[in-house]
Amino acid sequence: MELKQAIGIRRTIRFYNPYRKVEREKIQKMLEAARLASFWGNVQALRAIVMVRGESPPEKWDALVAPLGTSQLKHAPVVILWYWVEEAIFDRKTGHATQGDRLHELTDARVMGLDPVVEHRFLDTVVIPYFKQNYDGIMQTGLTDMDCGQGIAQATLVAYDEGLGTCCIGTGSLDGPREKKMRKLFKLPESAHLLVLMTVGYPLESREAGGQRPKLPFEQLYFVNEHGNPFERDLRVVEELKRDGMIQAPAPLEYRQKELEFLHKALEIVPNFAPPAPNANKD
Ligand SMILES: Cc1cc2nc3c(=O)[nH]c(=O)nc-3n(C[C@H](O)[C@H](O)[C@H](O)COP(=O)(O)O)c2cc1C
Repeated sequence: MELKQAIGIRRTIRFYNPYRKVEREKIQKMLEAARLASFWGNVQALRAIVMVRGESPPEKWDALVAPLGTSQLKHAPVVILWYWVEEAIFDRKTGHATQGDRLHELTDARVMGLDPVVEHRFLDTVVIPYFKQNYDGIMQTGLTDMDCGQGIAQATLVAYDEGLGTCCIGTGSLDGPREKKMRKLFKLPESAHLLVLMTVGYPLESREAGGQRPKLPFEQLYFVNEHGNPFERDLRVVEELKRDGMIQAPAPLEYRQKELEFLHKALEIVPNFAPPAPNANKD
């Protein structure tokens, strides 16, 4: 895979080929990629539950449907529920600092430092007690969510490399009625933080999916020395990235409207943003 090109063309896919199954090994490769992602303290809190259309229980599929943006949930061949669990860091029930085990493991893997005996002692007497006082804060920093995002992003790129498309769908809230139902049906531990549902399948829409999505101007996002002081964009670099396929033609491409009409018809999708029927508000 040419990485820059993959970043450019790998686009959120919302329309899947409903009769083409996704090979189990391709899903495994996505999960393998997530497993290898960097994670603070190597805690690897990210978890995933895979569901395959026609094989997983239908009531679980029904529980996933959300009010917006979910037409693909009705035809995607695979859905992955990504979430993370607190006990990968700290087990509130037993008081065990799992994170400490992972730090000791890193020491044994000779990741840094010169003397393993000294390192293990330092972990037990200084580092782990320090973390233990502050697990509530650590769970809320966003660091874990960010690292889960890295794992999910790696899975996304592998999916692309295997000819698949993906779309993340936010789970809404941690504790809404839909989330409560999901927790029960999927037997999630109390400590689970729901992240996203990811639809996976072979794209029915073209790979360009209508063109590169609008993104905010570069200088508005990235700075030097202080917030608001733009990191100046070198247009020669932009040209190079265009040649490498990372920066591509912006959406909408000229055929997109026709393509959307075709996709909606082919998959019998009721448009999300349709106005109410003319008589909807009459008695
Ligand atoms: C965490 C997350 C949640 C998302 N939730 C939804 C969603 O609920 N429905 C949807 O249609 N798209 C969803 N998306 C897809 C975004 O809308 C999409 O990434 C964005 O339009 C940019 O397109 P691109 O990914 O092709 O660059 C989500 C993406 C992420 C990363």
